[in-house]
Amino acid sequence: MATTTDSGKLDKETVVEDEEALEKQHFLRIIHAYRNYRAYALDRVQRSEKSFNKLSDRHKKLLPAQLGHFNKIRIAIDTNYELILRILNSTDHMFVNKDMENTKDPRNTGKTISSYHMEKIYTTLKQFSRDWSSEGQQERDLCYKPIIEEVLSRLPIDKRHKKRGEPKKVLVPGAGLGRLAFEIAKLGYMCQGNEFSMIMLIAANFILNRSGGINSYTLYPWVHQYTNNKGSEDQVKAIKIPDICTQSLPQDANFSMAAGDFLEVYTEKDYWNCIATCYFIDTAHNILDYLDKIYEILKPGGYWINLGPLLYHFSDIPGENSIEVSYVELRRAITEIGFVILDEHTDAESTYTQNPRSMLQYKYHCVFFTCQKPRHSSNTKCS
Ligand SMILES: C[S@@+](CC[C@H](N)C(=O)[O-])C[C@H]1O[C@@H](n2cnc3c(N)ncnc32)[C@H](O)[C@@H]1O
Repeated sequence: MATTTDSGKLDKETVVEDEEALEKQHFLRIIHAYRNYRAYALDRVQRSEKSFNKLSDRHKKLLPAQLGHFNKIRIAIDTNYELILRILNSTDHMFVNKDMENTKDPRNTGKTISSYHMEKIYTTLKQFSRDWSSEGQQERDLCYKPIIEEVLSRLPIDKRHKKRGEPKKVLVPGAGLGRLAFEIAKLGYMCQGNEFSMIMLIAANFILNRSGGINSYTLYPWVHQYTNNKGSEDQVKAIKIPDICTQSLPQDANFSMAAGDFLEVYTEKDYWNCIATCYFIDTAHNILDYLDKIYEILKPGGYWINLGPLLYHFSDIPGENSIEVSYVELRRAITEIGFVILDEHTDAESTYTQNPRSMLQYKYHCVFFTCQKPRHSSNTKCS
């Protein structure tokens, strides 16, 4: 993609332009996916309805509420789509200007949307429940609360320091829809969430910067779950978001979200007082790259607080590199790199975007640990 000049050197401007063009293309593809949500989701209901219609009259009579249920699903999808349109309307200042949306996108030709992107959109809708609804409180108490308490105990807020302009800096890589980072900023830390999924970033931007007051929006996060419902009503259970006014951060709060790959965005060494990872470290192709990066950008004496499983996101994706190590192996690498483990629990029960009414319940027995980069450390401990 990058071109060379006559002298054979890489033309930096062209590289930047190419990167911008790629970013623009990606952004368009994501907008396109969001726009196709309704058609895609309705297609799926139609499939269920078609199967139902093929039943004998006797069998249909045995399921008298089923057709009405399909209509409820359609209404729920329409409501989700209304929220999606609001989310898309909030993107006008993001990354690129408005006329990008008008750019002719050759893929904008109906239902050519990949199931990969649509699954991510479905996940984002569920993530709203985890991060920004009162229904998600229980899950947040299991995942975010222990991290927040640990941040507070390792890095107590010193009001005098705050006044002298020396905020304690906390980074939350893989921040999703931003609730953990938001809560940490609310306590008085300088906190930055980092996220590289455009689907997630667009939704986070909406809820953090453009949303109305408490419970302004209705959403049906479980409407795409056709199996393991105890009652039909569980599939069309509505939630309200946000459970908290996202504009409620104190005037002097220092909160931001940074878009991009954690491994690429952060280059300044010895910078962060704390890095808090929640359900994040297993998203790497090579988890050791994350460990190295965390070590490199933490200040000497800084803390890494982690809670999550080792699901290894690339594990089952053909053609993708995936380093899958057990926690015991990982722990060894953590200490080899130079971290000192200060606290560790290997059975921290928690859930991730779990539908509380589903007949299928996933529960993770996560690792939860706090490590410290030694106060007198170099960045080259492990080369
Ligand atoms: C399993 S989700 C967890 C989200 C959030 N921390 C939570 O607990 O709800 C992992 C998140 O990390 C993001 N992510 C994955 N790889 C990343 C990378 N290299 N840089 C930044 N974010 C990344 C994903 O897009 C996703 O939003």
